[in-house]
Amino acid sequence: MIIANQFRVPAGCVAHLRRAFSSTSRTLSHDNPLGLPRSGTPPSFRSRRGLPEKRKIRDVKKVVAVSSAKGGVGKSTVAVNLALSFARRGIRTGILDTDIFGPSIPTLLNLSGEPRLDENNCLVPLTNYGLKSMSMGYLLPQTQADSETGEVPMDTTPISWRGLMVTKAMHQLLHSVSWGPLDVLVLDLPPGTGDVQLTINQEIIIDGSVIVTTPQDIALRDAVRGFGMFQRMEVPVLGMVRNMAYFACPNCGHQTRIFSHGEGHGSNCEDHGVVAECKRLGVDFLGDIPLDAQVCEDADRGMPTVVAEESVERSARRQAFLSVAEQVARKIGLEWK
Ligand SMILES: Nc1ncnc2c1ncn2[C@@H]1O[C@H](COP(=O)(O)OP(=O)(O)OP(=O)(O)O)[C@@H](O)[C@H]1O
Ligand SMILES: [Mg+2]
Repeated sequence: MIIANQFRVPAGCVAHLRRAFSSTSRTLSHDNPLGLPRSGTPPSFRSRRGLPEKRKIRDVKKVVAVSSAKGGVGKSTVAVNLALSFARRGIRTGILDTDIFGPSIPTLLNLSGEPRLDENNCLVPLTNYGLKSMSMGYLLPQTQADSETGEVPMDTTPISWRGLMVTKAMHQLLHSVSWGPLDVLVLDLPPGTGDVQLTINQEIIIDGSVIVTTPQDIALRDAVRGFGMFQRMEVPVLGMVRNMAYFACPNCGHQTRIFSHGEGHGSNCEDHGVVAECKRLGVDFLGDIPLDAQVCEDADRGMPTVVAEESVERSARRQAFLSVAEQVARKIGLEWK
């Protein structure tokens, strides 16, 4: 197991901790036992003394973050298909997997192996389908193939890092990769609004974020929280994508809105849910991606749908990703040919 350095508490801090503890225990008898602030100004993330200034990633013109505070809604699937849509249109594109604890990009791009270091000691991205990529997954010890079957078993090594280690790893992924000239770098963000998101937002200039949600209320609530985070960080939100929006029957083509919540009620089905929330927040709705077994299968075999169905005429699922990509490209000033 990869374990963070052990942190020692400096002697001077003991008194401080004791004071903090006694003040917490005093609040235990009240209705806010943890003493957490419930109102007031949200923490400010910029311009505090000691925090790094936001800067651009070297050789990268634009940065787009694909995000959602909710896990498992398809951020990585959307991010990689978005990046591949750009790359296949001749836009010089990279994707940075910022999910330190559960990197997906190596699987999605069918890439593995340790990246080389260039003469400046920067990591050289691994490339597939014309898309450059970097991921924590490339930097972890690789599992060995079974000598008889030749199959590579899934890695059982958990990554258990504390905050400071995460921040350090993130810092290196952000600033020590030799991307070469890129028109756009897509960031695949992990779920949540925690350490990784804060570090990224503090350290680099993000030109826009794309928020992925599924139709369910439970996912949308978190997506809206993610929206709030970008707003506070002054990162433009380019729009929301509704993933797994409907299931299109492969036999008869009938569309079933399996996960819709509230969206099917009332006279106007867009009175509730993602589209309505976009209107309320003043954010563009970028479109629907269908829930489709092929999208999942393509992802699992490391050939995302945008590439897998490149020669399939009128592939609705591929077109869904391309349509989102085109809107994002135009919004950040990339030429969409
Ligand atoms: N539109 C879709 N149709 C079918 N399966 C999908 C679709 N979108 C995503 N999936 C599948 O859902 C699973 C989760 O997707 P993905 O890993 O992209 O989510 P995530 O939001 O990045 O998850 P995490 O929060 O863990 O990073 C994957 O198996 C993926 O192939
Ligand atoms: Mg992911």
